[in-house]
Amino acid sequence: MTTEKELSIRYNEYPSVESLPDADRRLMEAAIRATAAAYAPYSHFSVGAAAMLDDGTIVTGSNQENVAYPSGLCAERTALFAAGAQHPDRAVTALAIVARTPEGNLVEASPCGACRQVMAETQKRGGMPLRVLMYIGGGGIREVEGTDALLPFSFSF
Ligand code: THU
Repeated sequence: MTTEKELSIRYNEYPSVESLPDADRRLMEAAIRATAAAYAPYSHFSVGAAAMLDDGTIVTGSNQENVAYPSGLCAERTALFAAGAQHPDRAVTALAIVARTPEGNLVEASPCGACRQVMAETQKRGGMPLRVLMYIGGGGIREVEGTDALLPFSFSF
């Protein structure tokens, strides 16, 4: 017998960076600034990420590419692994993500599956929800209040 089940995803949208609560606005602004440190000579797609720790510290990351393409790393994992390496006893409470085109326009960066898996584990490691703020087209921000919304049924053992 088959039991059909349905999963729904809850998310919030803000119309602009300016309309975010103060701490989130500062986090998104840090992610926007972090796009300047991207090393993206192959894709020309600069991604910035900023992780908020439970003591208010912000750790940023950007995509770091390599001529051996798979050796490069996305902005999200660069930020989360830097946070884990430098602040192993701090939970990550929020992560802001944005991308910038070579023309300088801010655009959506919806995180890849591998980054979502790392976000899921970062949330589990921190023992509290990890909110994710994603810049979307038109200047808006999409927010999920935990990583489960981005990766249901994530791998764990
Ligand atoms: N990239 C990120 O850094 N984060 C994302 O969410 C999507 C993709 C990077 C990887 C690569 O350097 C470039 O963007 C193009 O895929």
